[in-house]
Amino acid sequence: MGIVHIDSVKQGMVLSEDVKDISSRLLLSKGQPIQAKHVRIFKIWGVTEVQVETEPEDDARANADTTPVDTTVATQQTDAIFRHVDTDNPLMSELVRIAIGHRSRTPLEPIPKNNGGIYIQDLSEAPIRSEIVTILKSPKTQLPELPTLVSELNEIVNDPHASAEAIAQVVNKSPSLAALLLKIVNSAFYGFSTKIDSISRAVTLIGIKEITTLAIGVSALRLFKDIPSGLVDVASFFKHSFACGLIARMLAAHKNIQPPEQLFVSGLLHDIGRLILLKHFTGRYSELLHVAASSDSALYTLEKAQLGCRHTDVAKYLLETWKLPPSLADTVFYHHRPSSARDVKRAAVVHLADIIAHGLDLGNSGENCVPRYDAGAVKQLDILPSNLELIVRQAVHQLVFLDAMFQEGAMQ
Ligand SMILES: [Fe+2]
Ligand SMILES: [Fe+2]
Repeated sequence: MGIVHIDSVKQGMVLSEDVKDISSRLLLSKGQPIQAKHVRIFKIWGVTEVQVETEPEDDARANADTTPVDTTVATQQTDAIFRHVDTDNPLMSELVRIAIGHRSRTPLEPIPKNNGGIYIQDLSEAPIRSEIVTILKSPKTQLPELPTLVSELNEIVNDPHASAEAIAQVVNKSPSLAALLLKIVNSAFYGFSTKIDSISRAVTLIGIKEITTLAIGVSALRLFKDIPSGLVDVASFFKHSFACGLIARMLAAHKNIQPPEQLFVSGLLHDIGRLILLKHFTGRYSELLHVAASSDSALYTLEKAQLGCRHTDVAKYLLETWKLPPSLADTVFYHHRPSSARDVKRAAVVHLADIIAHGLDLGNSGENCVPRYDAGAVKQLDILPSNLELIVRQAVHQLVFLDAMFQEGAMQ
């Protein structure tokens, strides 16, 4: 009998304990032999380990790293990036513990220097008076346009009678999008044991809403794939976006906040305003990124102080222009101050996902520390600290596969 990582599970192993998801829902009872379809279900629902009667094989044991790890550097790094977060809060205290463990096992990235100045995070709701917003709203400014197929998908997703073939027909108009979606569908993100080779099959297996929202989110991000890598590490930006989306989806599924696929896309697009600022105000924003890298102030605050608007203002305008659902724009707009959102819980999901992604260094969108934590809003989610590690581990597991795809240029 022993604990086996989900990737080491072999068909026929017999469970010695019930397998439950993070909401304690029974997925498979003890005594049952594990089949390939069970492994897929376990992965989808965030299970990373199972207890089996069969002895884990020697190679699986050999893979279990029991070497004591020196956490000194990881602790220093984690303390540094959490310097503006109240780590006495039970959920944040647990996140710090998880982050130290994660940093101890993964290659360490240097912590950006700061000048030791006073940390300011301006969260005021003063009306936006910024030439940037005026310029963005000017007819002369050509904001990136969503491909027409996204509008078509948007219509289909709201049609209760839409068929898998109808979705597939629209998605297949863009062979590169179809190929990218199939890569994601075949990654550990969904955990299918057999290869899915068509969009219509993917729609049948995953669902119309899931695949269409995924297509919409990925299409929107891909509009910015040509931002020069000298300005921002685009792969790292996409990684941060996907990490936030994955974690938001896990949190939403855990707390039954609907619809989880829209929370995924909200996470995916939460910092899209920064890409607009980089694309249309390249000089000013890259200068700001430079200042943020050597400052103790949050980039979010510097945006307001130096540009007169924040990436969230820009994102809201963009998402409204694209006619994406107002609830999605609201969640994105308030991801740094969820208490003010119309739907506090949804905004809190993306807010917490962003904080987890920053805390574990899962990509970066320009901030050099974990953003301010809105404990009041997150409290409404009622997430037990003891459930956090499972959510984080599964998201990290899924992200590894997606990240490898981005490094291979899958978003091109
Ligand atoms: Fe943000
Ligand atoms: Fe972010």
